[in-house]
Amino acid sequence: MARIVCTSYLFPDQTDRLKDADHKVWIHEGDGPIPRERLIAELADAEALICLLTDRIDRELLGAAQRLRVVANVAVGYENVDIDTASELGIVVTNTPDVLTEATADLTFALLLAAARRIAEADAAVRGGEFPAWGLDQPLTGTDVYGKTLGIVGMGRIGTAVARRGHSGFGMRILYHNRTRNASAEAEFDAEKVAFGRLLEGSDFVSVHVPLTDETRHLFDRDTFARMKPTAILVNAARGPVVDEGALVRALKEGEIAGAGMDVYEREPEVHPGLIRLRERVVLTPHLGSATREARRSMARLAVDNVLAVLSGQPSLTPVN
Ligand code: DGY
Repeated sequence: MARIVCTSYLFPDQTDRLKDADHKVWIHEGDGPIPRERLIAELADAEALICLLTDRIDRELLGAAQRLRVVANVAVGYENVDIDTASELGIVVTNTPDVLTEATADLTFALLLAAARRIAEADAAVRGGEFPAWGLDQPLTGTDVYGKTLGIVGMGRIGTAVARRGHSGFGMRILYHNRTRNASAEAEFDAEKVAFGRLLEGSDFVSVHVPLTDETRHLFDRDTFARMKPTAILVNAARGPVVDEGALVRALKEGEIAGAGMDVYEREPEVHPGLIRLRERVVLTPHLGSATREARRSMARLAVDNVLAVLSGQPSLTPVN
């Protein structure tokens, strides 16, 4: 019997699976994230941790958790976990890929469409009692999506799912920038692998799908925005710090780019005040990429599968180290 610590709500059927396997489960039930000292204390005799991307699982915490065997991060990204230290200490780290791909791609496309067709502004207008008269040059006129060029930065699982929506649903031409060639995306969508600069210069919509690494931090900065089309719309449902928010606000204000659909932010849950003030063609959501009932249930199930596998001496399903 092992002790399992969960830093937040886990669906009851998943908790039951852990208990049915004779494990003891402790779940943080307070409002907001678990205080760090409390988490360190709870981990003192725990063998498994199920955590969220908002929990910082660093060297100090891992070092204090002497019996820990597995960290199951309920997210596809895992930059919140010190992987090198976990590996050094023989702790398996797992994530939840695949099960959230389509949900995140849907949200990405929703942001793209909402920014292009000014849905949030239009919604606010109607609720505010405004109904602009129909006219050829009427307020809230947006831009076409169908047939435009979509630039995908990071053609992994989610980037590919977004490209598929663009190509199959909206007749878009797909450019992509990726470390390696994605031959199946090229075959399926006629996607063209291009240098980053060419993608910026040639895309009407630029969608970010890279993980956060030293290399991708502030990949979108002042110089990047200067190379984009003045009519372009940036979408980011990957990781906030990939975009320099100050530079984005400046680029939007100065008309270097036309709009943005943002789901992630540099300092979550804080959002740059300049971004909040910008409404025209700017749509903001609070890190909802994988927030569908189906995806969240599948994420929980996969995290539990991983914990049960490691605790029973089996290889985990989706290890990252
Ligand atoms: C992830 O899984 O990394 C997502 O950001 C969660 O929504």
